[in-house]
Amino acid sequence: MDIKKVHLYYFSGTGNTLIVSRSMKEVFEKNGVETRLYAIEKEPPANVDLNTCIGLAFPVAVFTTYPLVMKFIRGLPQANGTKIFMADTMGGLSIGVRSVVKSMLVKKGYNPIAASQIIMPDNFWPSAEKEKKNPKIVNKGVDAASSYADSILKGTASWDEFPILPWISYKISQFLFTMPSFRKKVIKFNKEKCIKCGLCAKLCPVRNIVMHEHPVLDGKCEACVRCNSFCPTGALYRKKDGEHVYRAVKPEELL
Ligand SMILES: Cc1cc2nc3c(=O)[nH]c(=O)nc-3n(C[C@H](O)[C@H](O)[C@H](O)COP(=O)(O)O)c2cc1C
Ligand code: SF4
Ligand code: SF4
Repeated sequence: MDIKKVHLYYFSGTGNTLIVSRSMKEVFEKNGVETRLYAIEKEPPANVDLNTCIGLAFPVAVFTTYPLVMKFIRGLPQANGTKIFMADTMGGLSIGVRSVVKSMLVKKGYNPIAASQIIMPDNFWPSAEKEKKNPKIVNKGVDAASSYADSILKGTASWDEFPILPWISYKISQFLFTMPSFRKKVIKFNKEKCIKCGLCAKLCPVRNIVMHEHPVLDGKCEACVRCNSFCPTGALYRKKDGEHVYRAVKPEELL
């Protein structure tokens, strides 16, 4: 396949998707394809270069993906045959996100060439027990991402779809993200543990955290679990104080 340049737009809550995106970039560049990575939360979709091959990489969340990712996809400009591929990372199961994204892209005039789902460690229910298996899962994920990038260049990759009711699962999932139990209650705060470092506010991709004396969480959380996964003291937590968290990279890599 004749691909000369790739601009890969990724969102990564805790680092898995960043690792996968970097592995793909490495393969593209080894094959002489100039590749740039862009964080979805920092880039206006209207600015994408329609003369490059575009990549989208994001985590699966509630069987589809985060509203911030869907907002980026909805905001992509009208194209005239621009090649585009996607990769999602997940703990184990997605329903329909590939089909929904494909149909949105086709309507916008893109040429969807390939989609792949890559298993990485689950960041939603992490545990010390699961942590032991994670290095193996990450290695497998990196291998899968490299093979996928290779197959994109060779033109052997395809955009498989999930045939069962993709739009229904998508609508249910996006509705769940609007519920107060997600928006307001997923992340909890223990003031006693907070050292007021402000990292959580810098990391939040939807600016849901504002630093006053302590961090204050607004009602637009998308549950990407970045803030609590990287909080240095565990002051932000999901279920119980002192719980295990998952993180695949250093926080600076997501800033
Ligand atoms: C709120 C939330 C919902 C998730 N839902 C799913 C899911 O439906 N299916 C799945 O396989 N993994 C699910 N996961 C796990 C992530 O998709 C997986 O760990 C992903 O690789 C995280 O990528 P990241 O580190 O780039 O954020 C979920 C994670 C979170 C935080
Ligand atoms: S990252 Fe943690 S310790 Fe730092 S301000 Fe946020 S809650 Fe407090
Ligand atoms: S508040 Fe935390 S979990 Fe919610 S969107 Fe921001 S960083 Fe993600």
